[in-house]
Amino acid sequence: MDDLLHQIDSYKKEITEFSADKDAAETFRIKYLGTKGLVKNVMGEMKNVPNEKKREFGQVLNEFKIFAENKYEELKQTTDNAQLATGNSIDLTLPGDDLPLGSRHPINIVKNKIISIFQRLGFAVAEGPEIEDDWHNFTALNLPEDHPARDMQDTFYISQNPDWMLRTHTSNVQVREMEKGVLPIRIICPGRVYRNETISARAHCFFHQVEGLYIAENVSFADLKQTLYFFVQEMFGANIKVRFRPSYFPFTEPSAEMDITCLICGGEGCSVCKHTGWVEILGCGMAHPNLLENCKIDSNKYSGFAFGMGIERITMLKYQVKDLRLFSENDLRFLKQFTSTV
Ligand code: DAH
Repeated sequence: MDDLLHQIDSYKKEITEFSADKDAAETFRIKYLGTKGLVKNVMGEMKNVPNEKKREFGQVLNEFKIFAENKYEELKQTTDNAQLATGNSIDLTLPGDDLPLGSRHPINIVKNKIISIFQRLGFAVAEGPEIEDDWHNFTALNLPEDHPARDMQDTFYISQNPDWMLRTHTSNVQVREMEKGVLPIRIICPGRVYRNETISARAHCFFHQVEGLYIAENVSFADLKQTLYFFVQEMFGANIKVRFRPSYFPFTEPSAEMDITCLICGGEGCSVCKHTGWVEILGCGMAHPNLLENCKIDSNKYSGFAFGMGIERITMLKYQVKDLRLFSENDLRFLKQFTSTV
């Protein structure tokens, strides 16, 4: 035991005399306090100390450890101060640290692009609530209580109030704008929507839509076709072809779905277009007279068209993304691949 005490004493002497040159603090830390340092070493001797001496020795060892730590702090201060005094630690001529620049989310890139195309045609952006009541999400849109079309859109209801839900589409904004009674209306409504769906590569419980609505006097189906044709050419290129297929939506009559030539195979047929050469991108139609009347608009005087598209779908086609889940997983390796000035 005396050997150990002697040893500690000689270390202490050495420590006291440890000179403060440039790298002193780090050299000291490695020699005394590091994982293979002398302090650790001495502490390790504790196991050889007989039980009745353990308490007394424990104190000596602890005090030694604190002694060494204090010296380290002191050395660190001295070297830091010395560096500051000579200006070594701050070189004002060095370039600043790089701040990592984020990039826009692909859904936002495409949303902004869609908006800017329609803005050039005179459409204004309108927004509405994501928590909606039955009237604006369903009933005003010509879906009575027991209408089978409600099944198309599995809904998240809000438990506090059976009249409230997370909107299943952006068509609620149509209703809210028409109810304001200011005509003509030419709006585009981007936003997030929710459906109680099982999550897969092609479906999610939330996604984004853009709704469009044009109500004025003498609006015809030709206006609808021309507007949407202009949109896809601007979005996907001048060579794109479109086709309209008859469809059904309670709030439009007649209703249609619009397809474009498959961007993956150019219309030749592939697995994405299920070998038809066409992919569906949106639903549309002429505003149903019941919808106009529900919103206190004279359906004899006014007519209009509406359309709705999923932003995820357009983005997947534009960037050839195969799995919808990638948009909400926040994986930077995926998100960093998209750049845009829009
Ligand atoms: N609301 C429809 C949906 O979510 C999309 C839609 C279709 C909107 C036709 C429209 C429309 O305005 O005219 O599936």
